[in-house]
Amino acid sequence: MFVGIDLGTSALKAVLVDDSQQVVGSHAYPLRVSSPHPGWNEQAPQDWWTGLLAAMDALAHAHPREMAAVRGIGLSGQQHGAVLLGRNGDVLRPCILWNDVRAAAQCHVFEHRFPQSRQVCGNMAMPGFTAPKLIWVAQNEPDVFRATHHVLLPKAWLRYRMTGEMIEDMSDASGSLWLDVGGRQWSDAALAATELTRDAMPALVEGTARAGTLHTALAGRWGMAARPVLAGSAGDNAAGAVGLGAVGAGSSFLSLGTSGVLWVTTDRFRPHPQGGIHAFCHAVPGMWHQMGVTLSAASALAWWARTTGMSEQALLAELPERIARPSPVIFLPYLSGERTPHNDGTIRGVFAGLSHGATRADMTQAVLEGVAFSFRDIVDVLAEAGSILTGADVIGGGSNSRVWVSILASVTGLSLHRLAHGEQGGAFGAARLARIAVTGETVESVCQPQRREETLDPDPELGAAYAATLARYRALYPAIRGAMETCPA
Ligand code: XUL
Repeated sequence: MFVGIDLGTSALKAVLVDDSQQVVGSHAYPLRVSSPHPGWNEQAPQDWWTGLLAAMDALAHAHPREMAAVRGIGLSGQQHGAVLLGRNGDVLRPCILWNDVRAAAQCHVFEHRFPQSRQVCGNMAMPGFTAPKLIWVAQNEPDVFRATHHVLLPKAWLRYRMTGEMIEDMSDASGSLWLDVGGRQWSDAALAATELTRDAMPALVEGTARAGTLHTALAGRWGMAARPVLAGSAGDNAAGAVGLGAVGAGSSFLSLGTSGVLWVTTDRFRPHPQGGIHAFCHAVPGMWHQMGVTLSAASALAWWARTTGMSEQALLAELPERIARPSPVIFLPYLSGERTPHNDGTIRGVFAGLSHGATRADMTQAVLEGVAFSFRDIVDVLAEAGSILTGADVIGGGSNSRVWVSILASVTGLSLHRLAHGEQGGAFGAARLARIAVTGETVESVCQPQRREETLDPDPELGAAYAATLARYRALYPAIRGAMETCPA
């Protein structure tokens, strides 16, 4: 019996997985994001801990027999967040999250101090990544910076609370911008560019390795017969890949979560920083991946639902079952800036092409299409980076909408596979990593692909119609960029 814990942005979720890889129980605890200034996004690590205790207590209550038999725990974590710890391991300030764009200027400082960073770390410096955030803290909160003894990513902090050990896996560490991604080790030069050394970093392991043992008191609290081992584990996208069986070179998936991700597994470190592609380690040994990230995906539809006072389902119900033509309205989904391909923390979203005839349904369709165009940008830069995709599994909350997935297929030209259990995501992958850490089984034998429920292929006629809208969508970003820089939010 294994547990996978996914520390997401909107919820912490724990799943209990048996030895035949069936999910026998799960519990989610909602999390809130605080935005003290436009473009800032923070969470208190203590809320994650409250969520973890609540989720695990609930599993122990509902499944006492299965919890007693748990042998391993895996973690999947929202990436890039900076948890700053003082001398005694105390949390010094709220965690600055992956979608926080305050550190835009500090990205230039980082690249100026470490000019080889793009080659070594495999990525353009982006405000969401951890290293630029530490420069921001040093410049704006010097007392906090001086008091900082350790910097952990979100799930490494959960492990610290669970085991007392500071350990990080390669996939999540890749998103810090402190990792030599090709060499799978910390980069002293990258750390020096933020006035830190390896002393501030956790030990590094592969995601499949053993990495700590659960505290006796917690094992007792949850009725576990023996203290479970923790796996090195993974950043949430790598954990999702493990859960989907995307462990072999060329395997890919598209995630329509809070953020949108298009992932492809590679058997080498293949950086393509100029296009805003991330080149990170995979959570399994000897593998890497490329990925493009659009910061607002399902969260764009959630924003539109809040704004209109409607539920997402009600908005989607106003659309035809089969989209026949592009919306006359165009939406740029840059609600909290954009990573791939623009790496622009200051850009914001736009509705363009509104007329007196524009309806709410036109605008809803435009939101879905805007996110799809943003994915199309990623498909094209991934092709420049050497990864030419023809299809992908699709996961995340947005994948429940058939109409959205069909729009995505026609806009991106990809055949998209909807899965039978796509919603389990990172937590299930984390449980698989726990199993490998405990049993020593091979990655390939444990990480089998998920069953596909249906495949949505691009509609050539609609795809041709979208080509014209895509050109207009692409013309809008350079046209509005200058104007956005002077906006207050
Ligand atoms: C990946 C990224 C997001 C978060 C979401 O680079 O920033 O996908 O990991 O949790």
